[in-house]
Amino acid sequence: MRVMLRTLATLGLLASMLPLQACAQGDSQARSADGSPASPRVAAHPPGAAIASAHGLSTDAGMEIIAQGGNAFDAAVAVSSTLSVVEPISSGLGGGGFFLLHDARSGRDVFVDARETAPAAATPEAFLDANGELDRDRSVNGPWSAGIPGLPAALVHLAEQYGQLPLSKSLAPAIRIARDGFPVYERLASGYERRREVMERYRGSRELFLADGDPPKEGEVFRQPDLARTLELLAEKGHDGFYRGDVAGKLLAAVAEEGGQWEAGELAGYQVKERAPIQFDYRGWKVTTAPPPSSGGVAMAEILQVLEGWDLGELDAVHRTHVIAEAMRRAYRDRTLYLGDPDFVEMPIARLTSLDYAAGLRAGIHPEKATPSDLLPGQLAPLEDEETTHFSIIDAQGNRVSATQTVNLLYGSGMVAPGTGVLLNNEMDDFALRPGTPNAFGVMGYDANAPEPGKRMLSSMTPSFIESDDRVAVLGAPGGSRIITQVLLGILAYDEGMSPQEVAALPRIHHQWMPDTIAAEPGALDAATVRGLEAMGHTVSAGERQWGNLQTVSWDKRNDTLEGGTDPRNPVGKVGISGAASKVP
Ligand code: DON
Repeated sequence: MRVMLRTLATLGLLASMLPLQACAQGDSQARSADGSPASPRVAAHPPGAAIASAHGLSTDAGMEIIAQGGNAFDAAVAVSSTLSVVEPISSGLGGGGFFLLHDARSGRDVFVDARETAPAAATPEAFLDANGELDRDRSVNGPWSAGIPGLPAALVHLAEQYGQLPLSKSLAPAIRIARDGFPVYERLASGYERRREVMERYRGSRELFLADGDPPKEGEVFRQPDLARTLELLAEKGHDGFYRGDVAGKLLAAVAEEGGQWEAGELAGYQVKERAPIQFDYRGWKVTTAPPPSSGGVAMAEILQVLEGWDLGELDAVHRTHVIAEAMRRAYRDRTLYLGDPDFVEMPIARLTSLDYAAGLRAGIHPEKATPSDLLPGQLAPLEDEETTHFSIIDAQGNRVSATQTVNLLYGSGMVAPGTGVLLNNEMDDFALRPGTPNAFGVMGYDANAPEPGKRMLSSMTPSFIESDDRVAVLGAPGGSRIITQVLLGILAYDEGMSPQEVAALPRIHHQWMPDTIAAEPGALDAATVRGLEAMGHTVSAGERQWGNLQTVSWDKRNDTLEGGTDPRNPVGKVGISGAASKVP
């Protein structure tokens, strides 16, 4: 038994792995139902812990907590909070997220929904301009674009309900890094330049990002003392440390100062929701994924169950891409029409995720011709600003965390609440603020995703697990509407036997019904495949800029190896693995 080092070495990540440490030695001899040794041998517990996240400091923070005796859920608190400090472009205490958990002791899978909620003042009319059009500045910049944050409540919930360590320990790395600072990396600096005009509208953002007189520059140390204090209050007081008292007062004052409106009760009353994940089978894998208010799990079930009708490995590139795109198209149409917050809307989830429904969708796919998605005229401009972040964890007990967290677009609303270090999200743009008008990701919605007080906006975030008799993988990604298709391609790649690093690196394609186009990264489709797809009636946008930032870990139960994959599109991501020392081949 050994820890797979090949792909990490290829990425130059080997040197950054933590010192190897002892780990739980489970009974690695599985038994069959009659008590005789199962054949072949599969391990009962992973040989250590593995974490993949989008920044080296957040992976290190998680490994530090594992080394202190924390489990995957404690490590998730450390990784999540550290990402909130080192990746303000992507996620933070002012945003929200989804945490898919597997609790090894009970065998239970649970989805912790820490999605932002709509403030009561944010009615659909509040987002329309004088001509009745969507006011795009309001929907993505400043106080109106922000929902009531959910991430701090998730950290408290994970620690209290699932962790083994107090928040004072699991938040310690984030507090330290916020106080002492960390070196600015390229994406942070270039992202600031892209959002600069908006961010410098707000006093709190100027005080934080222009503290030394100019914007963050690559290599200089970025410190966030107010955020360190906010995290300390969360560690000391739990939920109340953020949602009541000093921090809450400052958030309310900041929103009011910039012309928005939040009520104290909306903060004090914020709660995470535990929901049952979406689960289904695909070619021998049990897939566990995100339920509404994510659209990811429903779409994933539709796509994979449609694709189960073909042996993708037997198809040529043109026909393989054709059927994948056609399945994606149909799932994204259903996302647009039916999905929203389950606490507010009735949704035909059972039907949409049924095998019969998939069979019906499959029957409508012409083997040689694209089905036009002809409702929306014109092509939408490709998205420029996109962020969000995902991390994946497996620990030595077999606990798992798949978490995607976000402030929505790059640097969220651009607005920091003075004195808190908290950058507010711009998640309100994920609602269908004006029915049928595409949002920043080009996806639309209707009544099911209209804003209402306290409602959660529909998301594409799709933290997932897949599990077969001999392998477990945890995966997820950012990328707005392109999240679902990234995770889907990741699952297909795992099914084809790829390593986690190959899964993370794989060139991507995407179809979201509207615009009616197959988007493809450079290298995803060769010229002949593009010509073949065009001959079937597809519009192909080949060679688009790259997207996504997939982070994945897997445990191979047969040879008891842990392996991780971090997206090479993001040079600062990192995989950490512990426990190899106790597992000599
Ligand atoms: O919840 C969602 O679907 C979006 N707010 C996620 C935003 C995102 O992934 C940004 N892009 N990388």
